[in-house]
Amino acid sequence: MFFDFLPGVGHVGAHRGARTLAPENTMLAAELAVKMGANFWELDVNKVADGTLMVFHDDVLSRTTDVASNAGFTGIAPWATHEYSCKELQQLDAGSWFIEEDPYGTIASGEVSSATLDKMVGLQIPTLREALEFSRRHDLPVNVEIKDQLQSPGDLSIVDDVLKMAHETETEDLILLSSFNHDYLTRMHYLAPNMPLAVLAEKKHPDDIPGYLKLLGATGYHPAKDIIDPELVRDLASRGIKVNPYTVNDMDQAVSLINAGCFGIITDFVHKLRHRLSTQSS
Ligand code: G3P
Ligand code: MG
Repeated sequence: MFFDFLPGVGHVGAHRGARTLAPENTMLAAELAVKMGANFWELDVNKVADGTLMVFHDDVLSRTTDVASNAGFTGIAPWATHEYSCKELQQLDAGSWFIEEDPYGTIASGEVSSATLDKMVGLQIPTLREALEFSRRHDLPVNVEIKDQLQSPGDLSIVDDVLKMAHETETEDLILLSSFNHDYLTRMHYLAPNMPLAVLAEKKHPDDIPGYLKLLGATGYHPAKDIIDPELVRDLASRGIKVNPYTVNDMDQAVSLINAGCFGIITDFVHKLRHRLSTQSS
């Protein structure tokens, strides 16, 4: 399973792929994650109108696609992601926005190669199937985050669909499943008791973190960077909990959390964290 692939602590997780070097949640970002030495990658899953599981973060399409200027795409602003089919979504260019916006300044700084830039134009939104097949090919563990399906509250069927896709792509052993919607975790634990689960917490911790995780059958804890500190990591790690804080882009914070026993760090800057860790140990 996921944790068996990654012995020890201090692993580097690529948030939405290597999203500072390539458009987030694309296969190019996944390739860059491998190239930059990530130990695992994180991706976001949404179910769209025809039931396909797509790797996409936002509820709307405007931030990371050319939906506003794509003449062939019919639809009405704000272009809710779940209202379109896979076929419609794959007409969109999910890469060129990165070149236009250079959101992290990595193009201006020369950190993105011209070969990588060329590959960004016309990138498609991947399906979960493509993403899992990639993970299998590279034996790259993957943190699959199921986004809360706000269009269908109470419907947990996306969990069944994710498990089916894991089965079809033979990637059950590579997946760590997480969600802010903890009902999804409960459902997965019921369907697949051996699937590793992680609880996401954004603004506050559950009252009794170890007790809450045990209740859900989770072994991982993914707190936001603003609510975690080394002392809490030390305490949770001593109880066998795998802590993977997100999204840690301050390298000093990353190192202090790793030194406290974090299993992994989910970061936008895989290349910087990898560099920092390699210079520290030499
Ligand atoms: O899974 C960690 C992190 O990705 C959770 O927040 O909004 O970046 O998906 P978000
Ligand atoms: Mg995420």
